[in-house]
Amino acid sequence: MSKSKVFVTRKIPDSGIKILKECCDVRIYPKNKVISRKELIKGVKWCDALLCLLTDTIDKEVINVNHKLKVISNYAVGFNNVDVKYATLKGIPVCNTPGVLTDAVAEHTFALMLAVTKRIVEANTFTRTGKYKGWEPMLFLGMELKGKTLGIIGLGRIGSGVAERAGKGMGMKILYYDVQRNENFEKEFNAQYASLEKILRNADIVTVHVPLLPTTQHLMGEKQFKMMKRTAYLINTSRGEIVDERALVRALKRKQIAGAALDVYEHEPKLAQGLTKMKNVVLTPHTASATVEARSAMSELAARNILDVLAGKRPEAIVNPEVWGR
Ligand code: DGY
Repeated sequence: MSKSKVFVTRKIPDSGIKILKECCDVRIYPKNKVISRKELIKGVKWCDALLCLLTDTIDKEVINVNHKLKVISNYAVGFNNVDVKYATLKGIPVCNTPGVLTDAVAEHTFALMLAVTKRIVEANTFTRTGKYKGWEPMLFLGMELKGKTLGIIGLGRIGSGVAERAGKGMGMKILYYDVQRNENFEKEFNAQYASLEKILRNADIVTVHVPLLPTTQHLMGEKQFKMMKRTAYLINTSRGEIVDERALVRALKRKQIAGAALDVYEHEPKLAQGLTKMKNVVLTPHTASATVEARSAMSELAARNILDVLAGKRPEAIVNPEVWGR
C-alpha cells in the first residue's frame, strides 16, 4: 500500500516531522518564509494531509483544490486562518495544538506585564547607550504588581494559567470575564467574575486571552480604552485583531492608559503607525509560544493529529468534532 502524503508548509521542529516520517511520505516547503499561495495550492493538491501554520490562509479555494484532503492540522492553538465552517461542510477534520503551549504563553504574558510595568526595555536601552550616570531616586519609576488588580478577558487555558501566576505568584487580585462563569476557579484563586466594563474600569492591568471570532474582533477599541484607568496597562498575547490598534495608539498618545505590551498585531507583520515610537510600549514578534518545549510539543501534537485521522481515530485536538463519525 502506498504511504499517505503529508504536506508541511514550513520547517517546524523535527520531533513531529520524525513521527510523520515513520509512516508517511512527508514534503516540507523548503524556503524559510511564508509559503506563496501558488506553492500552497500545489502542496495541497499533492497531499492527503496538510500541516499548516497560522500564517497560511486555508480558505474555500485552497480546500477545494483537493477533494480527497483528509485533514487540516494547524500548528497553532488559534485557527482563525482556517475556514473551519467550509472544512466542516466538506467533512474535513480541522485540528489544532491546545494545551501544549499554555505555560509558554502564560509565562510570556507575564514577561510582557513585568517588562512594561518595570520599564525594562526603556531602562535596558538607557543603560546600553551610556546614559546611566549613577543611581537616582526617581529613575525609571514603575508599578508594583502585588495587590494590584489584574483583569483577565477570556478564562480558557491560557487565561487561567495567567491567573494562577498572578494570584499565587504575585499576590494580585483577579477580576475575570468569560462567556462562561467558573465558580471553582473563583474559589481557588479568590477571583471575581465581572462584566467587561467593570474589568476595564477597575483593572490596573488588562490582559486579553480570547480567540478571534466575529464577536471578539475589536473587543478593545476607543470606547474601551476610555473606560480604562489612566494608570492601567493593556497586554495582548491572543490575536491582534482583537485590539483596534489605531485606537490603541490614539489612547496611548492621549495618555488615556499608561502603556501596552503586545505580542500580536492587527495586520501582522505590519504595526500601526506610531506604535514603535512609544516608550511605554513593549513589542514582541508573535513569539509568546516560542519556547523549545512548546514548539516541539506543538510539532508532535500536530503530527499525532494527522496520524490519528489517517488511522481512522478521532484526533486528540479537533476543532470541528461534528465531522467525526458522520
Ligand atoms: C497559537 O498557537 O495560536 C499562537 O498564536 C502561536 O504562537
